[in-house]
Amino acid sequence: MIVAIPKEKTAREARVAATPETVKVLIKSGLKVQVETQAGNQSFFSDQDYVEAGAQIVNSSNELLSFADIVIKVLPPSLEETSQLKIGSVVISFFQSTREISKVKALAERSITGFSMHLIPRTTLAQKMDALSSQANIAGYKAVLIAATHLGVFMPLLMTAAGTIRPAKVLILGAGVAGLQAIATAKRLGAQVEAFDVRPVVKEQVESLGAKFIAVESDSDEGVGEGGYAKETSEDYKRRQQELIHEHMSKANVVITTALIPGRPAPLLIPTTMVDAMKPGSIIMDLAAENGGNCELTQKDQIIEYKQVTIDGTSNIPGTMPVHASELYSKNIAAFLTYMVKDGELNLDLEDEIISGAMFTHKGEITHEPTREALNT
Ligand code: NAI
Repeated sequence: MIVAIPKEKTAREARVAATPETVKVLIKSGLKVQVETQAGNQSFFSDQDYVEAGAQIVNSSNELLSFADIVIKVLPPSLEETSQLKIGSVVISFFQSTREISKVKALAERSITGFSMHLIPRTTLAQKMDALSSQANIAGYKAVLIAATHLGVFMPLLMTAAGTIRPAKVLILGAGVAGLQAIATAKRLGAQVEAFDVRPVVKEQVESLGAKFIAVESDSDEGVGEGGYAKETSEDYKRRQQELIHEHMSKANVVITTALIPGRPAPLLIPTTMVDAMKPGSIIMDLAAENGGNCELTQKDQIIEYKQVTIDGTSNIPGTMPVHASELYSKNIAAFLTYMVKDGELNLDLEDEIISGAMFTHKGEITHEPTREALNT
């Protein structure tokens, strides 16, 4: 079977879905690998590196896609790319299937089996396939570095002959994978870090990284959803949360927001009135920009100034660190693909919870219930 790695066509997408190292893994599992010319360029992998790993370089995107049995990508295939895919082939990418309905339909119409790395279940067995975590980790780290470069103040406490510099105050909203890495990175830079999350279970993790956990007093675990994720909270909880965040934001130099609820728009945590209360020169890094943003003023992929507060809505932060982002993503996707390959052939066991969980189209049907629901609304 031929597995194809196209060059990502979208501007600002520097990642690639396979590295020379993972090409070797795919070949070892019995697959034949074809790579579009220059696919790895922006992650600093040359065509020659892929050839040495055993891949064949293909110059035309159309030719690559129309012969492949399996296509692995970072971003979902465009409608044009989908029209070039072989009927009945398999595509694996970072697909937000509940939001990209026209692309889902186009895949189903061509009987293409679509898998999304977003949908890989968060189980122990699937940990090595967890691209959401591997990329969120990068986003959390890099967000702190970007914030530090926007800032007009130091992060650490400094005692100098000219006086003492107080450490910057960093507030992290949402202490999942990205938030925890942001805490660790900001602590390493010497900032004073506070974090908030609707899931009280993360208090211990936040504190073990040396940050202060700020909590809304609540008798119930009302923000705790299934599978360790968050869920919508009550209006009363939201009001108390807003008061608490407002108080801490007015003292912060940097606010990094990472709050997401699977399958829903990002919760609005920072209305404009809260930004009004921030200190001039402070920064908001909104890592939820892709899903609508946690701040009311966030504009996706824009860095805006509002009353001397910078609001950075850069959405593809992992793509700004393409070497490690590609290395980790490629390992996640190779782990998933080789999990489904037996003796060089695809074995799509629909009883398997990882395979069926990550699948959203198969044999002309939309197999993922929330995607079907989104199609009908
Ligand atoms: P995510 O990206 O869906 O959300 C980020 C964070 O935002 C979460 O911690 C969530 O609780 C928080 N959040 C949501 N609404 C909020 C609100 N209104 N205010 C404040 N915070 C809010 O989550 P992520 O980072 O992908 O992972 C969340 C959890 O999933 C992890 O902490 C872990 O428990 C679990 N997980 C399990 C894995 C496994 O078992 N293999 C792997 C990765 C994560």
